[in-house]
Order: sequence, then C-alpha cells, then structure tokens
Amino acid sequence: MDTKCLHIKQGGERLSREEEAGLRQAAEIIRGGGLVAFPTETVYGLGGDALNPESSRKIYAAKGRPSDNPLIIHICRFEDIRKIVRQLPEAAVKIAEAFWPGPLTMILPKALIVPRETTGGLDTVAVRFPSHPVAQKLIAYSGGYIAAPSANLSGKPSPTSAKYVIEDMDGRIDMIIDDGEVGIGLESTILDLASDMPRILRPGYITQEMLDKLLGKVDIDVTIVEPDSGQAPRAPGMKYRHYAPKGRLIIVEGPAERVIPYINGHAAENQRAGEKTGVIGTAEVLEQYHADVVKCIGSRKDEETIARNLFSVLREFDDENVTSIYSESFPAQGLGQAIMNRLLKAAGHRIVKL
Ligand code: TXA
Ligand code: MG
Repeated sequence: MDTKCLHIKQGGERLSREEEAGLRQAAEIIRGGGLVAFPTETVYGLGGDALNPESSRKIYAAKGRPSDNPLIIHICRFEDIRKIVRQLPEAAVKIAEAFWPGPLTMILPKALIVPRETTGGLDTVAVRFPSHPVAQKLIAYSGGYIAAPSANLSGKPSPTSAKYVIEDMDGRIDMIIDDGEVGIGLESTILDLASDMPRILRPGYITQEMLDKLLGKVDIDVTIVEPDSGQAPRAPGMKYRHYAPKGRLIIVEGPAERVIPYINGHAAENQRAGEKTGVIGTAEVLEQYHADVVKCIGSRKDEETIARNLFSVLREFDDENVTSIYSESFPAQGLGQAIMNRLLKAAGHRIVKL
C-alpha cells in the first residue's frame, strides 16, 4: 500500500488552504473505511471510523495488535458522547468540564451503536476528546467518531513524532498527517467510570492528585502501584509487554551519589566484556556518566520534559546496539506516576534499589 503524507506546519492552529484540503481528503479516507495516522496532544493515533467494524479490524491488523485490546473513540464535541454511551454519570460531566478537551479518557457503558470490534468485545467504551486542533478538525470532518490506538506497531513505544509513525506504519496505512512533535509525549490518563468507584486504569498527564481534588478520592488499579500483585490489569492493553527497547533496560533508584558510580561501574565492566552500555540520565548530572551512549531524558527541574522525551529516547536506543541500558529513577507522584509506569513496563520491572 502506498502511504500518503500530509505535512502540517508546526503548531497546526491556523491551517493553509492546502492543509485544509489535505484534512478533507484524510477524512474521506476514514469515511471510506481507510486508516489515517494523526497527531494528538499526547501521542500520534492510528485512526479509523469507530462505528465501522471493518475499520477496527484493519486497525488491529496494521498494528499487529491482539483484537481483545479495545480502542479509544475520539470525539470533537462533548455532546457527541451521548450517542456512544448507555449512561452518562454526573461524575463524567464534571470530569469533562474540568479536563476536556484534553489528555483524559473515560470508560463508560457502551451504546449498541458501537461495534464490539471497536471495544475488543467489551460492554464498555473508552472515550476521549483531544485538545489538538488538527485532531479535532479531522474528527469533525470524518463524521465525529474516530477509533484510534497509538500509531505504533504493537509492543513498541507510542510515537511522539511523525517520523516514528512513518518508521512503524509506512506501507501499512493510507495516510500519515505529519505535525512534528507532540506536546505531552505519554498516552492519556484512563479513568474507569463504569464500575462503582472511579478508578485510574492508566496514569497520565491528568494525575491522581488532580482527580482526587475534583472527585474526592479516586482508586488506582492495583497493578499500577503494585506491579507484582499477580492480578490482571483492568485495561486489557496494560497487560501486554510494552515499550521495551532492544537492550536490557534496568532502572537504578537511589541518591545520585550512589546511582552514578553504580552505573559507571557497570558500564566499565561491560566494556571489558566487549559489550556496549547505554545510559538514560537527566540534564543536571549527564556529564558525570561514562558509558558508550548517554542520552538525556530531560531535566529534573521540569518533569514535563522527561515525559515528552521518554518514548523517543527508548526508540533511539534501538539503533545503538547496546546490550544493557541503565536509567535513573523518578519519584512516582504527580506526573512521575505515569513516567514510572511506562519506564517500569519498558524495563520489564527490573529495578535496582541502592
Ligand atoms: O493518548 C491516548 O490515549 C492515545 C491517543 C492516540 O489518543 N491513544 C492510546 O490508545 O493510547 P491505545 O489503544 O494505545 O491505548 C488504549 C488503552 C489500552 O490499554 C486499552 O486496553 C484501554 O485503553 N481500553 C480501551 N477501551 C477500554 C475499555 N472499554 N475498558 C478498559 N480499558 C480500555
Ligand atoms: Mg498504545
């Protein structure tokens, strides 16, 4: 398949006439049952018509994703949620007022119109109203309901830039809309509102603290805070192996005075054994590392930079031929909860505590 590419000037707030025409063409592809990758404020999505079961089947095939892993339906006006959910609890309205459009997905009982192919056979549906202007226009032009998982091959980190979408999806889908790099870099927070108590199934930019403040106390899926609890995560996608780079990733937790010598020691040892070592470090201490490849994940003074760079750093290590990668650890509060959730998954939960 020949994959077309539509370039949008960075920012995407005010589109040129060509860009506008390109988006109309992308929407025609989606209406016709085809697939288009598009930018959102979190990560790039791989979009198809959410109400067309054939489109959902194509999404699973393009990603190489198991079809029991449900898709998120993206909307571009709050009212549009009414058509795809069976019930709209007061809490959902409150959350939408506070955080939509934005990086938060709600799980609600699904209406009949939503095909089971889209929800991976579940009786609930995930709904998100993204804030990215290009995403909003594409959804509006496509008829209002786009099913979109992250636009990566199953198992790889979610794409934070169109170049990674091209890497994974070129030749597999009809079109890629290139709007450069995304703003947040981690997938949306998922909040389950279909059971008795609101519960976070995947941490994201909208944090547990922010939701607690709005709703009183919200629960968090036990598998996020106790990964070795032995329980199955409630978001089916969270059970799959994810994000893992080709080298063996190990997180090292502790004070910098211990972490840095520990990592340098292992890098030296690996070098003697003829192996290459990678390091994921923060800007403040980066020059203290001595290893084959040292990559900066961002600054401890600005956690958002860490969230934004995490997936691209993991992807870039795949080209470096390193056999092990050591990463600094981050406090798991606020946005750090989402950062550590993704990092731990990428590391297969290997963590050394010093
Ligand atoms: O930020 C995002 O959410 C991005 C952008 C493109 O919007 N999308 C995204 O989709 O991350 P995906 O498919 O990669 O992740 C969706 C997650 C999966 O873990 C899936 O299992 C879970 O949401 N999910 C979807 N529907 C669900 C449902 N009805 N019940 C429980 N979990 C659900
Ligand atoms: Mg994904």
